[in-house]
Amino acid sequence: MADLGFDGKVAIITGAGGGLGKQHALMMAGRGALVVVNDLGGAVDGSGSDKGAAQLVVDEITSAGGEAVANTDSVATVEGGESIVQSALDAFGTVDIVVNNAGILRDKSFHNMTSDLVDPVLDVHLRGAFHVTGPAWKVMREKGYGRIVSTSSAAGIFGNFGQANYGAAKMGLVGFTNVLAVEGAKYDIRANAIAPLALTRMTEDLMGAGFGDKLQPELVSPLVTYLCHESCEATGRVFSVGGGRVAEVFIAECPGYTDTDLTPETLRDNWATVTDRDGYEVPTQLGEETKMFLDALS
Ligand code: NAI
Repeated sequence: MADLGFDGKVAIITGAGGGLGKQHALMMAGRGALVVVNDLGGAVDGSGSDKGAAQLVVDEITSAGGEAVANTDSVATVEGGESIVQSALDAFGTVDIVVNNAGILRDKSFHNMTSDLVDPVLDVHLRGAFHVTGPAWKVMREKGYGRIVSTSSAAGIFGNFGQANYGAAKMGLVGFTNVLAVEGAKYDIRANAIAPLALTRMTEDLMGAGFGDKLQPELVSPLVTYLCHESCEATGRVFSVGGGRVAEVFIAECPGYTDTDLTPETLRDNWATVTDRDGYEVPTQLGEETKMFLDALS
């Protein structure tokens, strides 16, 4: 089968001045996408800025024969998100793809977590996705086409010490993705999320040599690239990806225990049935979960 090309599709990739976002930008531009390389260029904790990071990636793309423009606005504000989308419209006339990738870390155990550690993390990861995807959505809805990939994390999906702020933001992106998939379906807008694992400046202190060496960020980009392609039918899905391994992650619901005279005691006595995972289902939207209630109660 033919390679997956992006001939003329316009992609916004946030936080693409380094790490994972840079690899996504290089891969999609190499396949013909017209790319807005957004990056504020700050430190891992979100402090500072360096307007050169995005331009360096643009230079790399253009010297390889691709097309890209740099944008150095922050995803953390409404104005920043509008300006990022405007960059795509000014340079390329439309937007087809949004990859919400920009991210920062402010880790602390929960009992030490103050609002200066919570708000910036929510602003970049979760609100940032709203700020950029919102104005892009208007264009996508009008044209009847769009692909959105948001970067979640196993830290939120499964939990990780010291990351209540980050985990909440990252799991928020799963809810964001689920709803966008439902609302976008009739406009051919598909939304998915990834939970990556890669050796970048964000993780270099956490990963030992050996394992870390296997987790090159460019091994995450094939999944993002495929999810952004017009031929990919996945929507409302979450995928774990790293080191060349890709696996779907899903939220399931057990058949459960039903008792219309439910008391705390009957619940205690039937707890094994409540938590029995045999025969679980994977609802793809609220209505399918409601049907599980209707079936149990009928
Ligand atoms: P990174 O630190 O190399 O990349 C993040 C980029 O986002 C940086 O270039 C940074 O300048 C940019 N950025 C930060 N705040 C911004 C803002 N307000 N506006 C625009 N750009 C901003 O780290 P990495 O690993 O490439 O992270 C990419 C995404 O993947 C992040 O969302 C991160 O949370 C997520 N992730 C990474 C994992 C890993 O194993 N590397 C694990 C799970 C999630």
